[in-house]
Amino acid sequence: MGIIYNEQKRIFKLDTPNTSYILGVGDEFGHLVHIYYGKKIASTDNLSKMPSVDEKNKVWYFDGTKMEYPTGDIGDFREHCIEIRNENGQHALECGYVSHKIYKGKPKLEGLPATFSNEEDCTTLEVVMSDSIAGIEITLIYTAFEKLDVITRSVIVKNICDERVKLTKILSSCLDVENNEYEMLTLHGSWGRERNIQRKRIGYGRQGIYSERGVSGHQDHPFIALLEPGTNQTMGEVYAMNFVYSGNFEAQCELNQHDTVRLVMGINPYQFEWTLESGEVFTAPEVVMVYSSEGLGKMTRTYHDLYRNHLIRGKYRSIKRPVLINNWEATYFDFDTDKLLSIAKKASELGIEMLVMDDGWFGNRFDDNRALGDWVVNEDKLKGGLKYLVDEVNRLGMKFGIWFEPEMVCPDSDLYRAHPDWAIQIPGRNPGRSRNQLVLDISRKEVRDYIFDSLSKVLKSANVEYVKWDMNRALTDVWSHELEPDRQGELYHRYMLGVYELQDRLVTEFPDILLENCSSGGGRYDPGVLYYSPQVWCSDNADAISRLNIQEGTSLIYPLSTMGAHVTDCPNHAVGRTTPFDTRGAVALAGTFGYELDITKISDEDRSKIPGQVEMYHKYNDIVREGDFYRLASFSQNNRYDSYMVVSKDKKEALVTFVQVIAIASHAMPVLKLQGLDPGTNYYIEEKHEVMAGDVLMNMGFVPNNENGDFKAGLYHLVAR
Ligand code: DGJ
Repeated sequence: MGIIYNEQKRIFKLDTPNTSYILGVGDEFGHLVHIYYGKKIASTDNLSKMPSVDEKNKVWYFDGTKMEYPTGDIGDFREHCIEIRNENGQHALECGYVSHKIYKGKPKLEGLPATFSNEEDCTTLEVVMSDSIAGIEITLIYTAFEKLDVITRSVIVKNICDERVKLTKILSSCLDVENNEYEMLTLHGSWGRERNIQRKRIGYGRQGIYSERGVSGHQDHPFIALLEPGTNQTMGEVYAMNFVYSGNFEAQCELNQHDTVRLVMGINPYQFEWTLESGEVFTAPEVVMVYSSEGLGKMTRTYHDLYRNHLIRGKYRSIKRPVLINNWEATYFDFDTDKLLSIAKKASELGIEMLVMDDGWFGNRFDDNRALGDWVVNEDKLKGGLKYLVDEVNRLGMKFGIWFEPEMVCPDSDLYRAHPDWAIQIPGRNPGRSRNQLVLDISRKEVRDYIFDSLSKVLKSANVEYVKWDMNRALTDVWSHELEPDRQGELYHRYMLGVYELQDRLVTEFPDILLENCSSGGGRYDPGVLYYSPQVWCSDNADAISRLNIQEGTSLIYPLSTMGAHVTDCPNHAVGRTTPFDTRGAVALAGTFGYELDITKISDEDRSKIPGQVEMYHKYNDIVREGDFYRLASFSQNNRYDSYMVVSKDKKEALVTFVQVIAIASHAMPVLKLQGLDPGTNYYIEEKHEVMAGDVLMNMGFVPNNENGDFKAGLYHLVAR
């Protein structure tokens, strides 16, 4: 059993293989107090005493107390997790323990993506607390995984009074720990530069990252970790939180006067206000907490295993994806049936398995100024219609995929002309029209039904086996025609619930379709969308060197099997750099792998390399997709080279990637200490025709070949002998 309750001391202990999380109930009032999170504590009876809380006399404030789910206005002046406003204007909440239950398995979160598991793999604790004066009941849900060092948290709030209550803030998770000179690790970025790692020492006060864009976004990522000083891939204590949500978020840490650090995560309270009628509930999205005492690498592998086995669903979650070729960078909007078929024909001859038709196939979509929302095939471009094109592609032995941007409408579209009120905008105001488009009000059922019906009509009209779901702007001018004035604060979250409902309908109705999420590159790469799609387009910047940092930050949390990665043409369209075709292939092999270039126009030399790369994909993808990931060196830190490896779960095979960004003199080649191998096994290194022992490779190290020149890459396949 992963969770025990010490009735005498009123203490709960949640165990994972290497960690314990302990909380307790205050003796007089029943505040829920945090006691410990960290390395596993074996004892179940002699659990450490709770820090004293003077619940009765309240002769001191609560900001020296570690709280499990802090509420506002009771004298805990740090960031709190929940705020309400009831009919008499009261916003303070003070919740005391009411009851709890412990059970095997994990509950679903109504309408939200969340990790899942069967009864053998986890145990759940639900603690009910209430404030009878405010008329609010809070249920904290904790799930401890049996085989992974993961604890998930979410919260359900219920209005238990007769009047309506406004919920004005609800975070999902809080962790109070004593400070240890912690650093805060977050992922920041922009278009074409997603998820770059940032570490900085925390100081007194509040610091954090936020999205107010209505989407998770390129700029900040719903992830935060505290690292003890000196933490690297193999050493150091890490407390991490990742939010299973794709909308506005807050991830914050606060160091206070008592030298405790409070780490919180949840929906950003910015413009959030939710009405709870009597008896109604609100469910807050899930936070996934991982603690590692063995550095960032262990944290990474824990998230990878969790997401591969307990978040991603569907047929493609654990099978090889078809090698695709996407026409976006090949043609942009300038294509027709003949052009697509010429790409497909060449691609099929070289072993590529799927053609993806990107933006520009519908309505009057000749550029990005018009037609989003008009999901009807443009038969001037696609002569003979979609079915003819798809049948021809299938005849070449390839699958076919298609692009949509379902959440959008262009002012210049038939859809907008018919339903201007379906767009999110403020009456009378000139709305922001980023990329000449508006966001559809997906909180409305009729809008969702229109989107779903138009998509499914297209998908049913031909043998479509892949969908790229794009989303190319943030939310501004946030106002819905349908919501009452005092419910407009619900729109951001209702929008996300609408997106999740739509994606759920899509994967339920079309279970064989491979869904890839995308948002101007990697602007919506979060655990929320992984519940619906096993892969996400990582960045519109596919330059092999830029990708090193982007893929480093992404793979810090997300499995390689989810990272959309393509070989594109040079000079690269995003940054203008020219890199060897082999390097572009080696870097894309760390992800889902595919091509995005005009295969009919690239040089014969580059084209001739494609069959070999496709062969490598088939040879290595099982370990890339399913293996354990180890980062060996980071270009973002050393400014010279990058290296990482994957090891099969049975340790019989490994693949090491080394990218020499700046040319290195032969005598100065780095020694890479490999990781994750079996120390007692000998490995044959195919590219070096050499056998080396696992302990030698891990302790003495491995020297990659000098690749002579900038931007060169080497792959090394190790096979147990
Ligand atoms: C943004 C995506 O990231 C690109 O891959 C491409 O699909 C364009 N949108 C199409 O408009």
